[in-house]
Amino acid sequence: MSEKENVFKEVMGNYPTGVTIVTARNEEGEPVGLTVNSFASVSLDPLLVLWSIDHRVSSLEAFKSADHFAIHILSGDQQDLCKTFASKDTDRFNSCTWESSEYNLPVINDAYAVLQCKTFKQVEAGDHTILIGEVQDIQKSDTKEPMMYHQRRFGPIPVEFHS
Ligand SMILES: Cc1cc2nc3c(=O)[nH]c(=O)nc-3n(C[C@H](O)[C@H](O)[C@H](O)COP(=O)(O)O)c2cc1C
Repeated sequence: MSEKENVFKEVMGNYPTGVTIVTARNEEGEPVGLTVNSFASVSLDPLLVLWSIDHRVSSLEAFKSADHFAIHILSGDQQDLCKTFASKDTDRFNSCTWESSEYNLPVINDAYAVLQCKTFKQVEAGDHTILIGEVQDIQKSDTKEPMMYHQRRFGPIPVEFHS
């Protein structure tokens, strides 16, 4: 790996984010999903968000052909889910409680928020595909707070961040 790539990884790993799980259904109707921190908001009019998927992810084709996907902004206490949806050889949807939404999307319980999106545009970008979604529906918890992710550690927002 080049020096520039090393510094890039260090800098991006130091950039704090939240954590999401993005879900959809594949062409057989089975739920698919993975842990994602490349999530960002894009536009207010229309309401657009984006995330990017690595071309090595097993559900790549499912997400590329899906007309809808659901973005779960994890709450601070959902560390187990964050790990499960990033691990190989786990039965992801048997390790959590979820239900089918009005868009036939697998929606996992107890996230801080869930944004159900209609696929708006896909952009090929190096070894990832950027998926842009138009937000159709937002569910938000009034009691939970989002998870924080920094240098491979994730958990609740530290108390010193609270005013
Ligand atoms: C905190 C965290 C953030 C991640 N963000 C992304 C991401 O934005 N895009 C992506 O493709 N993979 C991301 N991953 C890795 C995927 O979750 C992982 O490669 C995926 O679950 C592999 O799925 P598969 O076993 O079905 O191929 C992230 C993993 C973690 C732990």
